[in-house]
Amino acid sequence: MVKNEERVGIVSRLGSNGEGVLKDGDFTVFVPYALPNEKIKYRVLKVKKNVVFAKVVEVYTPAEERVRPACSVYEKCGGCQLQHLKYKLQLKLKSKIVKECFSKIAFINTSVPMTERSELEFGYRNKLQLPVRAENFGCEIGFFALGSHRIVPINSCPIQPEWCTRIIKAVKKYVKLNNVSVYSDKVGFGLLKHVVVRAVDGRLLITFVINGDTLPYVNELIAILKEYFNDFSLFVNINKLGNNVILGDRFICLFGRDKVMTTDCGIKYEMGPESFMQVNDNVRRRIYQETVKISGVDEETVVIDAYSGAGMLTAIFAQRAKKAIGIEIIKEAVDCADSLKKINGLWDKMENVCAPCEDALPVILEREKLTGAKTVLILDPPRQGVDEKLINVIKEAKPEKIVYISCSPQTLARDVGLLTDTLKREGNDLIKNNEPNPIYELTEVKPYDMFPQTKHVETLVCLARKV
Ligand SMILES: C[S@@+](CC[C@H](N)C(=O)[O-])C[C@H]1O[C@@H](n2cnc3c(N)ncnc32)[C@H](O)[C@@H]1O
Repeated sequence: MVKNEERVGIVSRLGSNGEGVLKDGDFTVFVPYALPNEKIKYRVLKVKKNVVFAKVVEVYTPAEERVRPACSVYEKCGGCQLQHLKYKLQLKLKSKIVKECFSKIAFINTSVPMTERSELEFGYRNKLQLPVRAENFGCEIGFFALGSHRIVPINSCPIQPEWCTRIIKAVKKYVKLNNVSVYSDKVGFGLLKHVVVRAVDGRLLITFVINGDTLPYVNELIAILKEYFNDFSLFVNINKLGNNVILGDRFICLFGRDKVMTTDCGIKYEMGPESFMQVNDNVRRRIYQETVKISGVDEETVVIDAYSGAGMLTAIFAQRAKKAIGIEIIKEAVDCADSLKKINGLWDKMENVCAPCEDALPVILEREKLTGAKTVLILDPPRQGVDEKLINVIKEAKPEKIVYISCSPQTLARDVGLLTDTLKREGNDLIKNNEPNPIYELTEVKPYDMFPQTKHVETLVCLARKV
């Protein structure tokens, strides 16, 4: 097979990125936006040994499961991968991906229930990050095309709430009426780079990220924003670096309150423009509630919340347990957790540690073991999962329960395989352990649809100590 060749085939299944997969002779062909049982014409983009990456040219027989994507730039933007698939089947696919990761990566055959649906299939995101760029002799606002700095211009985005459309209109109007300079990647010059928005309880925290020291025509901008929004705060963020990081360190509040006080799962908290919060409010709350439920904590339990972010879950546990200890590497997030502790009066019940889990967790596990307390460990690591040495420390310390929240089914399966002894290390490889002697038993696997229309899935897992 050669690049640009066009061929016809029938898609046999969906792959783990939501793409169609088919067999063509000795080749396995991956075709994004194609569905099982569809007869398609595809164009070869890249051949790597017997794996082919291709693009749909024509769908001859659309599958029953196919729906018209809600987005006009769906295949160009690359932010969503599953909009062409009925929502119920998106949920089914995500459960299948989780199940396959457990069986293929960790040799664990476990039943995985249907992925918990999101209350909102569209318009669910509470956060928006829009690049603004000087392109085609004008200002373009949209999203970067996958793996590039080329803007795909948009007027709206179906996975964002309706306010996204008004933000785009307001930014365009401000730039046009005031002739505001806009950043260009090609020359590394120009002022306005990004507009970042967070929605908290109906109030928008709007940040203009600039490559400079001051935002011009602020009064004019506030007047324009007032035409579109009743309740908002305006910030400027200074980021003069030409790298891929969106936000700089400094936020300056130009209008409205700099923090919004709100309540979630019984915890009062302050949200600023830089605060970390999972993007789907409804699903986030359900995951927190289920985490508390399956952890079975009582007033005698010590909870260690590893990779604790801004400390929301640590605070929720601190209200119910003897004590909750959060461990987080980012200082600003730990400051937020400290403010949660203060606002909610959790003085002697919540401890926030700013350190890598690799350093702090072994010490804290050992310390709590010496007190003889019943210990529950929460793990909510980033995509790369938990460090293998740390997993070995956890197995030695044997907390009574481990609740693992993960945004990567692949690293989740690997880590659960190591914790339940179905995997062992041999040199550079992790291989099947044929003589397992497990300390932990996998008691629950529950996928949640935090990110509808995309390939991403959040999974909650519970491990209970056997001995
Ligand atoms: C998926 S987030 C979890 C956030 C939090 N549990 C929540 O519900 O909002 C992962 C967190 O782990 C932190 N992190 C990443 N590597 C870390 C490490 N080695 N040690 C401690 N924290 C780390 C990140 O800064 C991030 O806040």
